[in-house]
Amino acid sequence: VNQSAIPTEWCIDTHTDARAALAAYRLPARIDFGSVLAPVMVRADWRDGVWGRARLQAYAPLALDPAALCLHYAQEVFEGLKAYRVATPTPVIFRPDMNSARLNRSAERLSLPAVPEPMFRAALRAISAACAPFIPGASGQSLYLRPLLLGTQATLGVNPALEAVFLVIASPSAAYVTRPLKVVIERSATRAAAGGTGDVKAGGNYAAALLANAAARARGFDQVLWLDGGEHRYVEELTVMNVFAVIDGVLHTPSLTGTILPGVTRDSLLAIARRDGLTVHERRMGIDALLAAIRAGACTELFACGTAAIVASIAELADADGSRYELSQAPGPMAVRLRARLLDIQEGRAVDEFGWLDPVPLPESSDAGT
Ligand code: COI
Repeated sequence: VNQSAIPTEWCIDTHTDARAALAAYRLPARIDFGSVLAPVMVRADWRDGVWGRARLQAYAPLALDPAALCLHYAQEVFEGLKAYRVATPTPVIFRPDMNSARLNRSAERLSLPAVPEPMFRAALRAISAACAPFIPGASGQSLYLRPLLLGTQATLGVNPALEAVFLVIASPSAAYVTRPLKVVIERSATRAAAGGTGDVKAGGNYAAALLANAAARARGFDQVLWLDGGEHRYVEELTVMNVFAVIDGVLHTPSLTGTILPGVTRDSLLAIARRDGLTVHERRMGIDALLAAIRAGACTELFACGTAAIVASIAELADADGSRYELSQAPGPMAVRLRARLLDIQEGRAVDEFGWLDPVPLPESSDAGT
């Protein structure tokens, strides 16, 4: 992470309505994932090929032209990352450089303008600093940051928007997943095909996954496990999480073949595992071999990971024909250990040896410590 100061031309203006909204805000006693929203947001507008100055303003509905391109042709991409304030004196944002790079890969794929990295980081710091007093501080909690980028030009012509809006909203949150998951293998629908948008964070990917996930939920499952779109033979991901298996004591995860979202948590767990001297195989993972390994007792653990979910163990995998594959350990020792190591870094209990934390400077008068 480049922790250097952000050049002044990217500094965020604070609108007076933001101060009023912050002063009036009270954090509800109960928080889950994503339903409590912070009272401020960052907004920047792109027009004539240039970004206007980003500003922190009161959280409010957007005025969008009903012909805005994002509403018709789904020209929208987003990110998810977190600011933590558990054992650190000031908030820290986890690996914003990774999310900045991925946002711009997503933007390029969806013909949206790139968001300059200094503006992205300044926006995240500004909203995290403003919300510092109500970043929940229990382990597993954080300020979930949700940057989004949308094509707003009003036209029904199918062309890249000549106007776009970049926003960052935030949500004081708990972990998205809190108990072992029951997952069903999706044998017919496809999340992503080669050359498509599966490896970028386009909102449309999630819309297209809703139907299969709702059908799974109606049958008592939590998530679907997507297979590759070509042959439906290889394990890909879980819509909102990447997936890992422990087979004969060794960690395996699907390699990034171009149809899987490259998760920042996935990357972080791989780095931690390798640092700890664990063997990790990133490879194409056949579903039939995986099921056989569970049956034979060689695969002892399955778990999923994501920014929102952190690390979530999988208790059971079910196939379309109704056969069920229970994991002997859920959560198993590998998931427990990697989750703890990751949270120790994110929450400030361990040395940030990878340089993953971007400390958020707070204004002198801030009461974030109270
Ligand atoms: C995240 O983990 O940040 C995600 O993107 C999952 C979210 C869509 C709930």
